[in-house]
Amino acid sequence: MCGIVGTIGNVETTEILMKGLTRLEYRGYDSAGIYVNDQAGQDHLIKTVGKIAALQAAVGPQVQGKLGIAHTRWATHGQPSVANAHPQFSPSKRFYLVHNGVISNFSELKATYLAEQTFASQTDTEVIVQLIAQFVEQEQLTTLAAFQKTLSLLAGSYALLMIDRQQPDVLYVAKNKSPLLIGLADGYNVVTSDALATYDLTDDYLELHDGELALVRENDVTILDQKGETQGREPIEIKVEADAVGKGTYPTFMLKEIDEQPAVMRRISQHYLSAAGKIAIDTDLVERLAQADRLYFVAAGTSYHASLVGKRLFERYAEIPAEAGVASEFGYHWPLLSAKPFFIFLSQSGETADSRQVLVEAKRRGLPTLVITNVANSTLAREADHHLLLHAGPEIAVASTKAYTAQIAVEAVLAKAVGARRQIAAAQELDLAGQLAMAATAMDEITDNHETWDQLAAQYLGSATDAFYLGRGIDYDVSLEAALKLKEISYVHTEGFAAGELKHGTIALIEPGVPVITFITEVATADHTRGNVQEVKARGGNVLVIASTTCQQLGDQIVIPALTAELMPLVTVVCGQLLAYYATLQRGLDVDQPRNLAKSVTVE
Ligand code: G6P
Repeated sequence: MCGIVGTIGNVETTEILMKGLTRLEYRGYDSAGIYVNDQAGQDHLIKTVGKIAALQAAVGPQVQGKLGIAHTRWATHGQPSVANAHPQFSPSKRFYLVHNGVISNFSELKATYLAEQTFASQTDTEVIVQLIAQFVEQEQLTTLAAFQKTLSLLAGSYALLMIDRQQPDVLYVAKNKSPLLIGLADGYNVVTSDALATYDLTDDYLELHDGELALVRENDVTILDQKGETQGREPIEIKVEADAVGKGTYPTFMLKEIDEQPAVMRRISQHYLSAAGKIAIDTDLVERLAQADRLYFVAAGTSYHASLVGKRLFERYAEIPAEAGVASEFGYHWPLLSAKPFFIFLSQSGETADSRQVLVEAKRRGLPTLVITNVANSTLAREADHHLLLHAGPEIAVASTKAYTAQIAVEAVLAKAVGARRQIAAAQELDLAGQLAMAATAMDEITDNHETWDQLAAQYLGSATDAFYLGRGIDYDVSLEAALKLKEISYVHTEGFAAGELKHGTIALIEPGVPVITFITEVATADHTRGNVQEVKARGGNVLVIASTTCQQLGDQIVIPALTAELMPLVTVVCGQLLAYYATLQRGLDVDQPRNLAKSVTVE
């Protein structure tokens, strides 16, 4: 979703901003813009629709200065267009502003304060910059006072960078709910919504709290709270490994990330499981979970699919009842809670606004919370009582792959730890290190055969406009994730189904040639699912069966090693990921940055 970079005090401002925007491309965007001020009265505003390459081509050598802001926009209010791209500016062209987030009361603010004004864009953001300008130009407030007054009127989420042309020695910064970090570099400063954008410039960042603003100068940062009082803040260290953010020899991030999964399994095992079978997880967290009478998993997208598996893992190995909820639904439709609930949030990015609003409410109610995330220092990691890291390395492709399998592995570690604490036999007997090692080997075998998946994708999904994924139990969970992978990057209409539900409606859509990818790894229901396969075949469906060794039959196209039931998605999903990947490549589409999607969804 939208990305922000700003800098003050470095002569290479344009380069810093453009490099930063390029690194934020992975988050998803549809237009981009840059404003650079040379601190001697010259300034440059350039905005383009489409890829950063278009902006780069439009930014000439004359765009130089020591102060600048830049933005990638993922449209919320108003279509992708140059007028709606950021930076937005005041009619006087004195104030320039970039914004991540959504201002929920922008229409009211427009009607109350700016009824006489004309607007150049359809964005909520323009309202912010026009308000600041009005308070300075008509009410004669200082820029700082106008900025503070404007912030006090805003409802919703924002990360803001604002430049006043008449004060080129300061960058105005503010944050509420949307992520924003101030990076302290050598002789200059940077501000970004994502440390990936500036990882080669500094490891030292100041975090702004919700409702605070900052005045960022070349060699100095002043943080003010809502009352205008100066706040002390120690920098935190955020290190991003340079080689982890590159594609290496891979053509795409997605393929690299799919192939990294065996290594991620081994890393999680090394990190959390000792050779002696001890689990390295905070005992306080394990104890609190062991005391809970019900677990509430909350997540979005792929992370929600991983939480479905988490529910099964905790019910089997820790014998604690669990529910999994979609964050955007949960937040506004809270179920009746048990007496001793515990909330587990899954979020690759640690920034998803839908999940965060549930976390905020859980904290308000005084409920215990854990976040399982890939990003240390992310908003959710900072705000939950506990956090566990996925150790999956940065995930850049919009479609999540290694984060899903890492989430399942970490859930399994935690379920075993809690189950062992509760003296549940199934947990005590589970050889998790052995299971994760087997999963890694099976993943290796699957990812070693790219051509097989290329061929299968061509054979089953080549000309498909619709596709179905079927399974029961744990295979149903993975069919939801496999279907999501295919639809989000190939734009093929895809559904994941509980195999037994097919005949209650969806079978009406099966006609000759329709691809039906079926996962069969659950022994107890394998025969029933085979029956569903026959029903599909009888109507001409093009069935691809992916079965475990424990369920295999003659004619199954793919057979994979059997793990303990709840861990089968670690392997089956890789098949789904590779099918989606090659079906998308064969359509000539952008695998890493699918249309309309964002990696980190920081608005509700
Ligand atoms: C976006 C991404 C998905 C992701 C979901 C949840 O929609 O495109 O890939 O699964 O957000 O993100 P999170 O970072 O909370 O796991």
